[in-house]
Amino acid sequence: MISVTEISKKTNFSKEDIIRLLSITDKNEQKELLRKAYSVKDKTVGRKVYLRGLIEFSNLCQKNCLYCGIRSANAKVTRYSLTDEEILAVTEFAVKNQFTGIVLQSGEQSNRDFTQRITNLITRIKQATHHELRITLSVGEQSFNTYKEWFEAGAERYLLRIETSSEELYRKIHPDNALHSFKTRLQCLENIQQIGYQTGTGVMIGLPFQTIENLADDLLFIKQMNIDMVGMGPYLEHVNTPFFIYKDSLLPINERLNLSLRMIAILRLLMPDINIVATTALQTITPMGREMGLKAGANVVMPNLTPGKYRGNYLLYDNKPCIDEDADECINCLANRMKMIGEEIANDYGDSIHFTQRKNRVVM
Ligand code: 5AD
Ligand code: SF4
Ligand code: FES
Repeated sequence: MISVTEISKKTNFSKEDIIRLLSITDKNEQKELLRKAYSVKDKTVGRKVYLRGLIEFSNLCQKNCLYCGIRSANAKVTRYSLTDEEILAVTEFAVKNQFTGIVLQSGEQSNRDFTQRITNLITRIKQATHHELRITLSVGEQSFNTYKEWFEAGAERYLLRIETSSEELYRKIHPDNALHSFKTRLQCLENIQQIGYQTGTGVMIGLPFQTIENLADDLLFIKQMNIDMVGMGPYLEHVNTPFFIYKDSLLPINERLNLSLRMIAILRLLMPDINIVATTALQTITPMGREMGLKAGANVVMPNLTPGKYRGNYLLYDNKPCIDEDADECINCLANRMKMIGEEIANDYGDSIHFTQRKNRVVM
């Protein structure tokens, strides 16, 4: 069998190579893979962490994904929506704390009131912060024109996880109706990219029915789509979802963590110049999860800036951390943690290098 050392020397991996790396069980091999990915990160995007302040501004959602805690059929969730003023207060806080970017995230809504409101919000945030904050949107599937309207209003980045690149698996993890179509999701991602956003996607790792081959395909999908930013993390169960019945057949939690770290590491080797998030889901498995993600090749962290009183209502999965903390506490905590692992918090925008180069090539 080909060794990890041999594979990680290559610049182009076959699907078999990726499967081999994803299947690592030996501790030393895992260490070697992660170390290699970290050194590639060091040489390309640097030993720096970019912070994006996450504002979970509403948990209203029209969808019913079978794995997600805030799916529309979960009547146990207290639904909320921050006012524009509350959102603006968070962005002001973000600027004061030297953030260069925020992420506006919510469940999915597609009515005109919602889309119009986002357009106005983008304009107001840009004005109020003197165009000092980059805005990432993460508000699901929308029409081409809506994505365009938001881009023109000033949003620079968009995150839409494909969740899985396998249409077959996608069907198994979503209800079978037009609101949950793999083809529509893919089309949305293509539209986002075509409009000119820095384009982010990602997948869940360790889903029921998911195979290692699915995950290898996910990595190849991300590469082939020329994605600029990736957020991917372990699937975690939520008690009030249909998928809770699979809780005993999932990969053990530590293996899910290690598999997620290998996904990050392999992606860093495949795409050295993209931005990769060390997700909150990693931190849910273990308090040091995000730091482990950074050590495996990730370079972005999204500290939660959602006002404390709403945090307990944005639970996509069980045991989400920091729901009793406030933004101040998380920022201090994070600063200490980054120092501890020898990573510097960057103060520039940290646009995806991959995006900048992709754009320059198109212009030339
Ligand atoms: N476990 C892990 N991630 C989840 N997400 C939704 N539900 C879960 C879960 N149970 C992720 C999806 C979605 C993102 C906002 O959160 O990938 O795109
Ligand atoms: Fe809604 Fe996103 Fe949860 Fe699906 S994963 S139910 S779209 S918030
Ligand atoms: Fe929230 Fe540590 S990141 S308390």
